[in-house]
Amino acid sequence: MPLEASRLHLDIAARLRDAGIDTAMLDGRMIIRHVTGLSDIDLISRPETPVSDRHIVQVDELIARRETGEPISRLIGYKEFFGREFRVTPATLDPRPDTEVLIETALKLLPEQQNGKELRILDIGTGTGAIAITLLAERSFLKGVATDVSREALEVCYGNSCKHGVEDRLGLVCTNWADGVDGEFDVVISNPPYIASQELPHLEAGVRNYDPRVALDGGRDGLDAYRSIFKTAAGLIRKDGHLLVEFGKGQHEEIVKIAGQENLTLAALADSLIRDLAGIIRCSVFKVC
Ligand SMILES: C[S@@+](CC[C@H](N)C(=O)[O-])C[C@H]1O[C@@H](n2cnc3c(N)ncnc32)[C@H](O)[C@@H]1O
Repeated sequence: MPLEASRLHLDIAARLRDAGIDTAMLDGRMIIRHVTGLSDIDLISRPETPVSDRHIVQVDELIARRETGEPISRLIGYKEFFGREFRVTPATLDPRPDTEVLIETALKLLPEQQNGKELRILDIGTGTGAIAITLLAERSFLKGVATDVSREALEVCYGNSCKHGVEDRLGLVCTNWADGVDGEFDVVISNPPYIASQELPHLEAGVRNYDPRVALDGGRDGLDAYRSIFKTAAGLIRKDGHLLVEFGKGQHEEIVKIAGQENLTLAALADSLIRDLAGIIRCSVFKVC
């Protein structure tokens, strides 16, 4: 008798729960969907759908990897961010839900309708392109430039920009932060690496072993990227434009100080220090003094 999809889902969830994975039912559904091509609706409305032996073998391989702590995004090759799917590879950081507050903040700064002038954003250290592509997808008139030091990451970003239909509006530059980027931008935005080097070995295995080091390592105190980005950012922000950066827990005071040394001051917005869902101050908005 072939195994039914609903039975397989329950078996997978039990295995993942035994391996200490909290999101066992959700992960199980994502793995089945990925291997079999069945949708969530198929799984709910036709739970008796038989799963072939070939698919069961593939599911089994993925479960074994998930049991060792490999993130689900690495198994299925994409991560959802702000309601869209982004391809991820070993060259890219998995986009995080925390970064969605950066998007929400940037969207408040960008008008919903084009008001005559061209609006441009610059995303520094773009990785999968989650930030730049989301902003361009949310604002159809927006143009952007996204940079990364990793050519492999930019290739993933290009694929994601095509998938979301914004490739004609997004320029990609392989460079150190924003070196060599020309022009002025209404929003300069970055979620750079901000983990102090000595903390890297203590990160949870799902991050330490799968996100690329270049996307995590912020140098001795975790703040190297901000020192570099702030040096060039002031010259790239349009009059009335803004710089938004994400950072880690407890870093905001130092970051405000570094920004001050580069002629950048916190924008006078009610929410210029923005908290994530856990209540941690996660990003700030600056303008040129
Ligand atoms: C924390 S990840 C953020 C990725 C993406 N923006 C996001 O929010 O999901 C930091 C990114 O900065 C890139 N990066 C690291 N060093 C860089 C440098 N010197 N110049 C440009 N990009 C750099 C990494 O390759 C990585 O893609």
